Amino acid sequence: MVTMTPSSRRRFLAKLGGTGAMLASGSWLDAIGYAQGVRGSARALIQQPRVRADFDRRVLGAFLEHLGRAVYTGVYQPGSPLADSSGFRSDVAREVKEAGVPIVRYPGGNFVSGYNWLDGVGPKQQRPTVLERAWNSIETNQFGTNEFIDWCRMVGTEPLLGMNFGTGSAEMAVAYVEYSNYDRGTKWSDLRRSHGFEKPHNVRYWCLGNEMDGPWQIGQMQAREYGRKARDAARQMRVIDGNLQLIACGSSGTNMPQYLIWDREVLEECYDQVDGISLHAYYGNTPALTRNSTARYLAMNLDMDRQIREIAAVCDYVQGLRRSSKRLWLSFDEWNVWYRARSGDAVDGRRQVAPKLLEEVYNLEDALLVGGFVNTLLRNADRVRIGCIAQLVNVIAPLVTNDTGVLRQSTWFPYAWALRYARGRVLDLRVESDTYPITAAGLQADFARNDQVPFVDVVATLDVQAGQACVLMLNRDLDGERELALEWRDVAPTRVLACETLTGPDLKAFNTFEEPRRVAPQRLEPPAAGARMTFKLPARSYTVAQLATTT
Ligand code: AHR
Repeated sequence: MVTMTPSSRRRFLAKLGGTGAMLASGSWLDAIGYAQGVRGSARALIQQPRVRADFDRRVLGAFLEHLGRAVYTGVYQPGSPLADSSGFRSDVAREVKEAGVPIVRYPGGNFVSGYNWLDGVGPKQQRPTVLERAWNSIETNQFGTNEFIDWCRMVGTEPLLGMNFGTGSAEMAVAYVEYSNYDRGTKWSDLRRSHGFEKPHNVRYWCLGNEMDGPWQIGQMQAREYGRKARDAARQMRVIDGNLQLIACGSSGTNMPQYLIWDREVLEECYDQVDGISLHAYYGNTPALTRNSTARYLAMNLDMDRQIREIAAVCDYVQGLRRSSKRLWLSFDEWNVWYRARSGDAVDGRRQVAPKLLEEVYNLEDALLVGGFVNTLLRNADRVRIGCIAQLVNVIAPLVTNDTGVLRQSTWFPYAWALRYARGRVLDLRVESDTYPITAAGLQADFARNDQVPFVDVVATLDVQAGQACVLMLNRDLDGERELALEWRDVAPTRVLACETLTGPDLKAFNTFEEPRRVAPQRLEPPAAGARMTFKLPARSYTVAQLATTT
């Protein structure tokens, strides 16, 4: 959420009064399968048959918007010594490919609500330069849908395309699907072919607009109005391609005055025509959200767990109303830490090409929380099919470019570990952990909560065929090491293949091009492999272990 005027913001905050108390009932320990444990140590019981979900790797996707330096100088910079013959930055492409990012959402974001996809296809010299109104930037359209598809193929990722439901008509959204996915012999498919793309792109996943509830959104709509447009457009799209997976716009945050009501009303209109609904959330260590308390900040992935539960409950409610046999899945297609580069020059492109916007610098505590978000997404993989870290490069991103290379910010590591090691099924762990209290007083309504937070947050995946497990462990204790005893039943680790941790004395430390490894993984001495393994998790750390197991 961005760029609200002071008066619209005041109106917002006034409407919010009271909703926090309503949302804050019931402890989140139970909901995530945790119990209060003995002082000091934590224990997780791992049983092979207790499975939460087959793990769809799309839950670890990313987001790339025409915003600031994300596309231009992020993934595309013709003329740079680092670019290939298509103008794609090879260094960035290498990082994305090696990490194995499964799906990338494009082209926005707020941008998409004013975007004419036709401006970005066809001969480059004929593409118009336009004033982009979401971020007040100049858009040259030298990178568009076909370049994005080429880039996706190159880095081995799947496209997730967004449609303009702001200034755009249902007709042009449907035409976009025809242009992209229809084989030949029609107006839009033949246009694609004339642009040099004989074969259809076969894009399966599509977002029906972006944050259409937001007053900052170009073409903001009322829930029912949006729901009806989504239903109408979706029905037409399915005539073109019966394979589509369509995502309706959910609430753009838990702080929205119509949070959950928007989702219910939208789904009441279009449930039968969509497959998933979007969730968005940005977090920060601010006076309003955490009272600048790192302890509260590191619990914020549990707020994400809660948002997932609440939106899933609305989906199930509407499913019941409709007597539908279809269960919607969730697309958490924007999530991240974002609170520093969030106002003034950081969100105003001042009519420049590729201005420096939303260039958040991430520190160690941000990286630990991103690890927490990864844990939350994985443990909700039974319901969340798609997740997109927002964003991929330069704009609130784990990767940052300059003219000479690409830098891994602190947040890259937890994300990349999950991409690399999490495989197979997410196990349903029984966890006992010592807890610490957090209090609601003085916090923004949707984060105002009196609760107990487990010091240790752990998820595990098991790939039975490969005989490999992955355990991702967050230690929220800021002052002390915590032991985590893993007890394996039905399956046992035979060897530790990798064990690394992200930690350090300074929670505010961050990486720069001059000092790129101030926050970087270190090897952690693992326990011997076996049916009981006790990890010693350093204070304020996020740790991954990859284990070979009996099959
Ligand atoms: O990711 C930055 C912006 O945040 C996106 O454009 C918008 O969807 C959200 O408000």
